[in-house]
Amino acid sequence: MFLKGLILSGGTGTRLRPLTHTRAKQLLPIANKPILFYGIEALVEAGIKEIGIIVGDTKDEIIKAVGDGSTWGAHISYIEQNAPLGLAHAVKTAQGYLADEPFVMYLGDNLIWGKLQHFVREFYRTKANSVILLSPVDEPQRFGVAQLDQGRIVKLIEKPQNPPSNLALVGVYIFDHNIFTAVDKIKPSWRNELEITDAIQWLVSNNYRVNPYTITNWWKDTGKAEDILEANRMVLDELTGKVAPDLRNHNSQLVGRVIIQEGVELTNSTIRGPAIIGAGSSIANSCIGPFASISSGVTIANTEIEYSVIMEDCRVIDFPSRIRNSLIGRNTTLCRSTFRCNDINLVLGDNSQLFI
Ligand code: DAU
Repeated sequence: MFLKGLILSGGTGTRLRPLTHTRAKQLLPIANKPILFYGIEALVEAGIKEIGIIVGDTKDEIIKAVGDGSTWGAHISYIEQNAPLGLAHAVKTAQGYLADEPFVMYLGDNLIWGKLQHFVREFYRTKANSVILLSPVDEPQRFGVAQLDQGRIVKLIEKPQNPPSNLALVGVYIFDHNIFTAVDKIKPSWRNELEITDAIQWLVSNNYRVNPYTITNWWKDTGKAEDILEANRMVLDELTGKVAPDLRNHNSQLVGRVIIQEGVELTNSTIRGPAIIGAGSSIANSCIGPFASISSGVTIANTEIEYSVIMEDCRVIDFPSRIRNSLIGRNTTLCRSTFRCNDINLVLGDNSQLFI
C-alpha cells in the first residue's frame, strides 16, 4: 500500500494573537516541540514517508523549522497556497503533488494522541473512498459536526449554530482521488472558504463510501490559548522523565517525571513533574511545575510557575505572583519593577492579555 501525507500548515492564527503575529501557529511549542512535528511524527510512524506540506504566508519559517524531512527519514515537499481559501482549496492546490494516490490529510494545528495505522488499515479493509475521524466534544459549534444514523453518516455541517450532535470532525482524514471531484463541485461557505466538510458531504450525498471512526484517545485543535495549555498538560502527562547528563545541579530537587534538556543549570530550585526544562535554560531560587514547559534559553529567578508554557529566551526575574495558566511568547521579560513600589512597567504587543 502507498499513501502520501498532506499536512495543512498555511492559514492565519488570528485567535492566537499576539503569539501568531510573529510566529506560525503550527510552530508554537507543546512540551518544547512544535505542534507541527507531532503530525509529521504520526504520519511517519504510520509508514507515510512522502509528505506534502501546504504553506502560506509563514512559508519561510515553516521550511526553516522542518527542512527536507530527513530528520524523520521522510521526504517533505512544500506546496504553496496563494491565500487561505479553505481546507478544500488546499487539497485542490495539492492535486498535482498527490496525483491519483490516496492520502492522509492532517491539519497542522491538531494534536492527536495515538497511532494512525489503525485508520489506514480501516481505509483499505473497507475499500472506503474516505475515512473521517470523529470525537465527542463540549463545544461542537467550534468544529465540523457529524450526524450519524446507525453508525452511518447522514449529514456533515461546518461550525453549525445548532449542532445536531456533539461529534466533531477531528483534523485527520483519509481520501482517495474522488475528493478532487467533490472539491470541484462545492461552493465557498459563509466564511468564504472552500470547506472540506462540504466536500465530504458531497461524497456522502453522491453515494461514495465515507466511513466514520470515533476516536477514544484525546485530541486537541490548538486554535486558542487555552487549547495550547491543555495540550501541553496532556502531552507532559504522557512523557517519561529524562535528565541530560550535563545538568549543573546546585542544591535543586527534581520531583516526579521531569525532562531536563542539554546545558541546563538549576540552583536552589524545585522542579515538580511533569515538567520540561529546555536547553541552555537557567533556574535559580524558583519552583517550576507541575505541568510547566520552559523552552530553551530561558532565565528564571525567584519565581513560581505552574501549568504554563514559557517560550524561548524569556527572562522571568523576581516575579511577585505565582505564574499559572500562562502562555508567554518568545524573548519576553517579566520582572519586578526596581524603580518604585507599586509601579508597573509594561511593553506588551497588540492583543496581549495581562491579569494581575
Ligand atoms: O480542528 C478540526 C477542525 O478543523 C474541523 O472540525 C473542521 O471541520 C475544519 O474545518 C477545521 O476547522 P478550523 O476552522 O479550526 O480550521 P483552521 O482554519 O484552523 O485550519 C486548520 C489547519 O489548516 C491550520 O493548520 C491552518 C491550515 N489551513 C487553513 C486554511 C483555511 C491551510 O493550510 N489553508 C487554509 O486555506
